[in-house]
Amino acid sequence: MIGMLLALTSTAAMAQWGRPVDYAAGPGLKDAYKEYFTIGVAVNQGNISDPAQIEIIKKQYNSVTAENDWKPGEIHPKEGVWNFEKADKIANFCRENGIKMRGHCLCWHSQFADWMFTDKKGKPVKKEVFYERLRDHIHTVVNRYKDVVYAWDVVNEAMADDGRPFEFVDGKMVKASPYRQSRHFKLCGDEFIAKAFEFAREADPTGVLIYNDYSCVDNGKRERIYEMVKKMKEAGVPIDGIGMQGHYNIYFPEEEQLEKAINRFKEIVNIIHITELDLRTNTESGGQLMFSRGEAKPQAPYIGTLQEDQYARLFKIFRKHKDVIKNVTFWNLTDKDSWLGVNNHPLPFDENFKAKRSLQIIRDFDAAADNRVPKEDFVPNPMNQPGQQYPMVNSEGFARFRVEAPDAKSVIVSLGLGGRGGTVLRKDKDGVWVGTTEGPMDPGFHYYHLTIDGGVFNDPGTHNYFGSCRWESGIEIPAPDQDFYAWRKDIPHGNIQQVNFWSESTGKMQTANVYLPPTYGKLVKGKQERYPVLYLQHGWGENETSWPVQGKAGIIMDNLIADGKIKPFIVVMAYGLTNDFKFGTINKFEAKEFEKLLIDELMPVIDKQFLTKPDKWNRALAGLSMGGMETKLITLRRPEVFGYWGLLSGGQYAPDEIKDPKVVKYIFEGCGDKENPDGINKSVADLKAAGYNAEGLISEGTAHEFLTWRRCLYKMAQSLFK
Ligand code: XIL
Repeated sequence: MIGMLLALTSTAAMAQWGRPVDYAAGPGLKDAYKEYFTIGVAVNQGNISDPAQIEIIKKQYNSVTAENDWKPGEIHPKEGVWNFEKADKIANFCRENGIKMRGHCLCWHSQFADWMFTDKKGKPVKKEVFYERLRDHIHTVVNRYKDVVYAWDVVNEAMADDGRPFEFVDGKMVKASPYRQSRHFKLCGDEFIAKAFEFAREADPTGVLIYNDYSCVDNGKRERIYEMVKKMKEAGVPIDGIGMQGHYNIYFPEEEQLEKAINRFKEIVNIIHITELDLRTNTESGGQLMFSRGEAKPQAPYIGTLQEDQYARLFKIFRKHKDVIKNVTFWNLTDKDSWLGVNNHPLPFDENFKAKRSLQIIRDFDAAADNRVPKEDFVPNPMNQPGQQYPMVNSEGFARFRVEAPDAKSVIVSLGLGGRGGTVLRKDKDGVWVGTTEGPMDPGFHYYHLTIDGGVFNDPGTHNYFGSCRWESGIEIPAPDQDFYAWRKDIPHGNIQQVNFWSESTGKMQTANVYLPPTYGKLVKGKQERYPVLYLQHGWGENETSWPVQGKAGIIMDNLIADGKIKPFIVVMAYGLTNDFKFGTINKFEAKEFEKLLIDELMPVIDKQFLTKPDKWNRALAGLSMGGMETKLITLRRPEVFGYWGLLSGGQYAPDEIKDPKVVKYIFEGCGDKENPDGINKSVADLKAAGYNAEGLISEGTAHEFLTWRRCLYKMAQSLFK
């Protein structure tokens, strides 16, 4: 039974139903991005010693940076003392596996060979002595590894951060320098930058020489980097490219800010590397923070969604600028040893080395969607509350949302594309949260809700519909065939009555909604006609309102009758007891309680209160999703009660489960083409071959949602009670 239900659901839903999804299945990142840029990772000794981690590196990445082991302070801690062991291990790992490296880094204020600044007695040396030592360092490292290195971070983080308009120099408050006040700068001014690049070029005439820094998207720092690199290049310093570190977070940067920096740097270089990408789950960013380690605390799912969305946005921008962006490198392999601490969960692999959905979202991008701009013909959704403009839908099926929540930190709409788990809204200039789905939605009805800072709320713009065991917001995307469920003013309309009845077995009043056709109760040749009955069940998390309201069952029936496509019949839509079901127990689900309620309690009430034809050949049972499971279980156990059976995204019958073609006059099976069409087609073919009157429907362009089931009802109804 589990298999049956899972086969019905999409990948995203599968995770919800409790089966782990392997997000690493599929091509490696390096392969997905081969038309764009290389994909790199910063590694430590542990990463290249453990088979599980080695496998991740080899599959996903075609560029490696040593996280710490190549830094001057590690490799060259004293004059004449070289620690090449760890550095060699990484280089050899890459040589053996055919992976090219980014050499990080040759000259930096931190983790540096500080001995270069002083003589044996601890006195400061002249800059000429420093340059000699720096040159020796750079030449030695570059010559040792240039066979495996394609790019060098020659100078790291030489520019000052934003937010320091003034600073103290020699006890005086002066206008802040554009340069970081490092020992290098204090001794040499910005000449040390030029020297470092010159030394690197001498040693490696062909490698890509990079200036690398963090917070490049900050307005001030961006301009300081720009001015420095421009000045250097004009003076003939061999800077080939700019490294943008990319220590960002799940809220920052905005796409515009990132693009501004890329476009600015494009003016002076034609190579940009995103050298150190990770997305913190707090609001901090930059290259100078450290977090405490400790055991991983689980992260709220909405934080994961924000991170996935931010990764998706950033990579979309990176792809757009593939003319200059030649590499994107993640800073660390997994959350387990992120330099930001495990509780920031900043990377596409978690603390157990498992791929996160972020990995899938970065990898499985839709290149065609990258340049898609929705048509600006948005109109208020027909399901909105009176007077509400939002949500809106355009003619292509894009949905646009607008939510006022001035003090919120994040607003997510649970509708979206690409398995991302939603559309993340952004604050516009008026402080209102706005956002548009990344692409057209499937046609038809969708439930949704808002997640505001982790809490679940409905969109005040729309009406509410019972699904997922709660009243959810709903939106309706226009469908090409929407006329079959549209109100028509020129035809007779039936009505839907609510029937409340005492159920002894559940100890409660229960409710059913009963559709009566327009002719119901009218005298025909002096007699009241009796009608066949379809018992039509909703799915998990829904109730007796789902078919009449979002299912539009009554409208569909009116239209079918008016067009002469069916002879009128009654439709009973009862609550199917599906809401107390606990995930993980689906294999134990037997529908025994509902069988009792339906056959022993509800049916006698219906047959007593209404003009029914109370026999098997005038009675059908059908249901969607979990209601389909109920239908299958009950019809197979009680074939004497129902003569027509229907499963709507609710599994299939096999001939040997039924055993006798005479017990059922008609079997309907349907689903969306995004569900399990092959299963349905095969089952219908098998049933027909075994002598059953079976019919299938694969709904075009839909998944496990109400347009699939509206279409199924429309088709199935035409074959019932014939
Ligand atoms: C970090 C390492 O990841 C840490 O392990 C180390 O303690 C400090 O440095 N900018 C850089 C990287 O260029 O070298 C830094 O790496 C992160 C910020």
